[in-house]
Amino acid sequence: MTTYRLAVIPGDGIGREVIPEGLKVLHAAGRRFDFTIAPTEFPWGCGYYLEHGTMMPRDGLGTLRAFDAIYLGAVGDPRVPDHVSLWGLLLAIRKAFDLYANVRPVRLLEGVATPLAGRRPEEVDILFVRENTEGEYAGVGGRVGRGPDEVALQTAVFTRRATERILRYAFDLARRRRRRLAHITKSNALQYTAVLWDEVAAEVARDYPDVDVLKLHVDAGAYHMVMHPEWFDVMVGSNLYADILTDLGAALQGSLGLAASANLDPGRIAPSMFEPVHGSAPDIAGTGRANPLAAIWSASLLLEHLGETAAAAAVFTALCEVVRVGEVRTPDLGGRSFTAEVGDAVAEAVRR
Ligand code: NAD
Ligand code: IPM
Ligand code: MN
Repeated sequence: MTTYRLAVIPGDGIGREVIPEGLKVLHAAGRRFDFTIAPTEFPWGCGYYLEHGTMMPRDGLGTLRAFDAIYLGAVGDPRVPDHVSLWGLLLAIRKAFDLYANVRPVRLLEGVATPLAGRRPEEVDILFVRENTEGEYAGVGGRVGRGPDEVALQTAVFTRRATERILRYAFDLARRRRRRLAHITKSNALQYTAVLWDEVAAEVARDYPDVDVLKLHVDAGAYHMVMHPEWFDVMVGSNLYADILTDLGAALQGSLGLAASANLDPGRIAPSMFEPVHGSAPDIAGTGRANPLAAIWSASLLLEHLGETAAAAAVFTALCEVVRVGEVRTPDLGGRSFTAEVGDAVAEAVRR
């Protein structure tokens, strides 16, 4: 029987509440499909920072490298500045392991109300591919001067290499889906970075004549996601644009509590990392009512990455079933259930 070594970082806030539910479901899937998930939990995050002054130990990345995958909850606590906590853990992992493809499904589920009036689940099935290592998140910049003359610079970095690899990754996915790719740009205003992006997109597109390409400026992309979501199959964008558009995607889905993501190293040198799109949600942390489905859906993406395709599908089917029946749901989806009740219901549906 295969054993997968899983590094688990619940992190902060509701991360600590949703990850145990994802693990419940992973163990249920393992029992049914004959594999073992061997989790090792790391208490890293803002609590750790307040005690030790760092978000993870000095050799934290080295420790993670030995695992088959990483399962992360959320990072962020009002007591620690967000740029300190995120650059100290989540962004550090994405960058150090070169997890360049951040894949985020946006799908309507049967039984969940979407703010898009009249839209059916079959009309909205978008797969976002977010460049996850550079762009606006390159971390290049600085602040000089104090007082009224202070200047802050934050420079976006777009390399041809990273731009090309993310576009190729997205085209490959489109080819395995409905063969439509929308790439998100802003080359009307950003004459250097976004024009490079457009040029590389046009070059790569030549190798995929079977894929329909739509180039959209990010403002129009946001508009059309709401007005014409059925246009979209794969959408690919830079780090910041796709960050923002995937929260919009979560809104279309009806809740951030449903938005899943995979941070992938397609070369499979480093462990890939799976996490819900949402944050630590300090406004509801501790109430026990956070929706664990984004974390559970991310666990399904994790299983797919490990090659446990049948288990991945069973987890996704189970969560859809629980949502469709609608008896057990958290307040964000209009219910009154607790986080753990949703996890139990999905785990039970996986066992069936
Ligand atoms: P957030 O995603 O934590 O919350 C936004 C809103 O969505 C809140 O009203 C929250 O209650 C709600 N929400 C989020 N997830 C939910 C769930 N599973 N069930 C029900 N409701 C849910 O975003 P924010 O408020 O901007 O950020 C809070 C903290 O999280 C900040 O420190 C931020 O930096 C951090 N953050 C971390 C990650 C991550 O670790 N991946 C992602 C986003 C934000
Ligand atoms: C996400 C989050 C992170 C990001 C933050 C917390 C740094 O919003 O994964 O969507 O912007 O990448
Ligand atoms: Mn985000």
